[in-house]
Amino acid sequence: MTIDAPQADALTPAETAFTGKLIEMINHGATGLMLSVGHRTGLFEAMRDGRGMTSEQLAHRAGLNERYVREWLGAMTTAGIVSFDRDARLYTLPEAHRPFLGRGAAKGSMSSMFQFLAVLGGVESRIVECFHKGGGVSYAEFERFHECMAEESEQTVVVALDDAILPLAPGLIARLEAGIAVADIGCGIGKAMNHLAARFPNSHFTGFDLCEETILLAQLDAREQGLENVRFAAVDATGLAGDAQFDLIFTFDAVHDQAEPAAVLAHIRRLLKPGGVYLMQDIDAASDVADNMDNLLAPFTYTISCMHCMTVSLAQGGQGLGAAWGEQLALAMLKGAGFADVTTHRLPHDIQNLYYVCR
Ligand SMILES: C[S@@+](CC[C@H](N)C(=O)[O-])C[C@H]1O[C@@H](n2cnc3c(N)ncnc32)[C@H](O)[C@@H]1O
Repeated sequence: MTIDAPQADALTPAETAFTGKLIEMINHGATGLMLSVGHRTGLFEAMRDGRGMTSEQLAHRAGLNERYVREWLGAMTTAGIVSFDRDARLYTLPEAHRPFLGRGAAKGSMSSMFQFLAVLGGVESRIVECFHKGGGVSYAEFERFHECMAEESEQTVVVALDDAILPLAPGLIARLEAGIAVADIGCGIGKAMNHLAARFPNSHFTGFDLCEETILLAQLDAREQGLENVRFAAVDATGLAGDAQFDLIFTFDAVHDQAEPAAVLAHIRRLLKPGGVYLMQDIDAASDVADNMDNLLAPFTYTISCMHCMTVSLAQGGQGLGAAWGEQLALAMLKGAGFADVTTHRLPHDIQNLYYVCR
């Protein structure tokens, strides 16, 4: 596989800059896949103590094939992720990189998010087909989506619930301690509900999700923890029935990829008891693409939207709102669903999302 070299002497300065940018991008894109491989194989954990190692020593320590490890180290070294001592042939993970790479990284693993590149790559041909014929790619067609999502929300939601997310609604922790009814819609594998159920034994928790596979995993986790105040149900949120029964409802990154987001928001409003709170975490973007030029994660957001969030909604016959539906449209839709009092918050640990507290 080769990449055509641009004819340097025939290029204008703007063309030279642009082709340079494209070359930088193909290197970054490729490195992204190798970051995902490093995350999944445990190579970053194996390098975390900062010891310089040969490729043989690293492969032995990680229990992996040396030939593959050496090629991975080639990518990591030339991309500036790993440093290399040419004479001693030793590879080292620099101190400043260690807190961000691999599972259990001290300051939050940033390598975990690169897994989504491979998840999206797995459905590229199906997405290309949709560009021609319309329609969508369903949840079931994505390999490892729920697993990667759970790993991501462990870092953005679960670890921050107690100290950052719940305090966004004053008085909420006291109510949870006293005992209230709580729901999480689009709960995935239920980590947030199970975490709260363990912390607040007087409250009752219900997680709803479309995917039976995630519900089974959530139930298994609850059983293993011996939790009796939490239940999970495989339910399509588009048709959520019932009257006011919850004091607190969460959605974590789960409204924009719904088939019918407006209907789901209206159901949430109806399911809340008087005085209840709806806490929505969703992507931090503006509704107009022109206002997203300075958004650090905008290309990633539109990509993951096109190749996952939007398409899974379209696959359900839904509207395909997309991950970049944005704060302005979100506020209008929350108002349309009957929420009269909505405040928005950014939390320092989570650069990708906004938190809406709705009453
Ligand atoms: C992006 S994931 C977020 C999962 C979880 N809240 C988290 O933070 O890890 C969106 C979730 O919404 C669920 N979902 C999508 N459409 C749904 C629907 N119509 N009814 C119920 N759940 C749905 C998906 O199965 C998926 O688990």
